[in-house]
Amino acid sequence: MEKLEQLYEGKAKKVYATDDPELLIVDYKDDATAFNGLKKGTIRGKGVINNQMSNRLMQKLEKAGIPTHFVKELSERETLVKKVSIVPLEVIIRNIAAGSFSKRYGVVEGVVFDRPTIEFSYKNDELGDPLLNTYHALALKLATQAEIDTITDYAFRVDEFLKAFWAECGVTLVDFKLEFGRLSDGTIVLADEISPDTCRLWDTKTGEKLDKDRFRRDLGGVEDAYTEIMKRLTEHDA
Ligand code: TMP
Repeated sequence: MEKLEQLYEGKAKKVYATDDPELLIVDYKDDATAFNGLKKGTIRGKGVINNQMSNRLMQKLEKAGIPTHFVKELSERETLVKKVSIVPLEVIIRNIAAGSFSKRYGVVEGVVFDRPTIEFSYKNDELGDPLLNTYHALALKLATQAEIDTITDYAFRVDEFLKAFWAECGVTLVDFKLEFGRLSDGTIVLADEISPDTCRLWDTKTGEKLDKDRFRRDLGGVEDAYTEIMKRLTEHDA
C-alpha cells in the first residue's frame, strides 16, 4: 500500500491518500488541543498509544458486530482505514456526570446515571461544535433519520461493550465521543478514534483520571496516565 499525498491535517491526526481510492492512511500526532484549539500542547507518545488503543478497541467492536473503518495497523502511528465521508455529528454517550454535562446542568462530577445518555453536537470548529438535537440535525441535513437511528443504536452498543471491557481492566468508562462515516455505498461505520483523547476513563478503585482531562485541567501526570491506561489494555489482552 503506497502512502500518497496528505489530504488533511486535523488537531490530532494527518490523513493521506493511498493508491486505492477506497482506502486512506491516518497518522497519529502527539499534538494535543483543548477548548476548541485554545489550549495547545504536546503529550509525548500519545500518537502511538491512541493509534494502538483505537485499533485494538475497533477490532473488538467489529467482532461484537459494530462495523468500523479499521483495516490494518501499518506502524506505531499509522493505520490503514476505509475512506468515509464523516457525518458531521459528534456523538457523546455518558454513563456518569462529568465535564460539560456537570457544568451545563449543575451536577457534581461522579453522579451515576440510571441509564446512559446520548447527545449530538454539530462538528463545526468555527461554531464551537454546538449541541443540537436530532430535529436540528435533520433540518441542517447533516444525516437522515435512518442514519441517526443506526448511529444511535451503534453508539449505545459501543457503550455496553466498552463499559464491560474497561470494567475488566479496573477502569470505569465515564463518557466518550464517537464519530461515524459513510462508505461510498452509504453504509454507516464507526470512524475517527477511541482513545484517552475521546473518552473519560477513571481508575475504578482510586477514581484517578486516566485520560485527557489531565491535560485539559492541568492535573499533571498526563503521559503517565496515557501509559497506564494502555498498560491496562495490554495486560488484559496478554
Ligand atoms: P464534554 O463533557 O466536554 O462534553 O466531553 C464529553 C466526552 O467527549 C469526553 O469523553 C471527552 C470527549 N470529547 C472529545 O472527544 N472531543 C471534544 O472536542 C470534546 C469537547 C469532548
